[in-house]
Amino acid sequence: MRFLNSKLKIENTILQNIAKKYGTPAYCYSYKQLRENINDFKKNFKSISPLICFAIKSNTNLNLIKEIKKFGLGADVVSMGELMLALKAGISPKKIVFSGVGKTSKEINFAIDKNILLINSESKSEIIEIDKIAKIKKKQVNIGIRLNPNTDPKTLSQISTGKKDNKFGVNDKTFFELVRYCKNSKNINLKCLSVHIGSQILDHKPYEKMLRILDKIIKKTQYKFDFIDLGGGMGIPYNNDKKLNYKKYHSAIKKFLKNKKSQIIFEPGRSIIGNTGVLISKVIYIKESYKKNFVILDAAMNDLMRPALYGAVHRILPLLKRGKKSKKIYEFVGPICESTDKFTSIKNFQELKEKDFIAICDVGAYGISLSSNYNLRPKPIEILINGSKIRVVKKRQKHHEII
Ligand code: LLP
Repeated sequence: MRFLNSKLKIENTILQNIAKKYGTPAYCYSYKQLRENINDFKKNFKSISPLICFAIKSNTNLNLIKEIKKFGLGADVVSMGELMLALKAGISPKKIVFSGVGKTSKEINFAIDKNILLINSESKSEIIEIDKIAKIKKKQVNIGIRLNPNTDPKTLSQISTGKKDNKFGVNDKTFFELVRYCKNSKNINLKCLSVHIGSQILDHKPYEKMLRILDKIIKKTQYKFDFIDLGGGMGIPYNNDKKLNYKKYHSAIKKFLKNKKSQIIFEPGRSIIGNTGVLISKVIYIKESYKKNFVILDAAMNDLMRPALYGAVHRILPLLKRGKKSKKIYEFVGPICESTDKFTSIKNFQELKEKDFIAICDVGAYGISLSSNYNLRPKPIEILINGSKIRVVKKRQKHHEII
């Protein structure tokens, strides 16, 4: 994304033209950026030949997942819906892992019938349930056990999952017990040790610590895991922060893999899709207030939840650059009846007028997938841009579809 002659563009496409033609709010994704992210990820971890399972929860657009599949990625799913979507996108069941703290019998039945690579389980009760269902089906089911390594990922508390107070995974004591349980089961093949310590991780050190803990646990169990699933969580720069250093993470994994024959699985979401998307929106009104002006957009927290939910800050850019700066602080808000329906406040933004367009940046991950119909607002259109080729990958929802 860049400005050319003061116009914000994704690849060769001027976003102002998209806004006028397709209306707003609209999610616009860059195909080139997607390709670059995937190739970059693959290149950095090439020497360990990982299986890369895209975390579907980060973006549930079927057409985008079809594109991701073409690069050979598998899928990490966390519900029957996501599993159905991954299969519909043509992803081979042999490249699908099913994660999550509470899979229902219906979901387990479905996953077993589809012969997916792994069901990653997080509790004794769930493993007993999988065992029971597998026995009825007279099948052997490949599973992973998710360990809670009690590692602080140094990210937002709301998206941290690897500390002992979090509901995710099992502690080491339960882990050892479950390994013994699986060894004695005729219907369960324990294939994988899985972890996922959190999301938007920018520092490689928590990963290093996590790997040291895994190493100890594996030595203690003396079990040969075919797969080590390290989850996702690789962070991206939203503002001025640096993205996770893949090289350092890669060398820590290489060190960890010495004397092991396991294949690494990754479940990246944000690092693949996060910076591919912007949400373009129109300024409906500008309302003067005491110390700031409210810029009331046609996009709201139902379209992009991250700021309201986590206090996440996304950059905002005008679609047309003008020189003059606003004297007042702009607070960008949506029209929803909630005080948390606010994107961010910016000082020295360029002076805006009603009907101007802006772009909220880096919303490819957990943008549309976290969106809702709150206030009975239809979901936005989604557009994939490839050079000057424009493709509607999801139509704008219509009121009659939600009423
Ligand atoms: N694997 C598991 C088991 C996960 O729970 C997640 C994300 C991922 C992989 C993918 O993580 P990623 O590479 O995208 O960080 N809605 C929040 C993020 C929640 C992440 C939940 N789990 C946000 O908007 O920041």
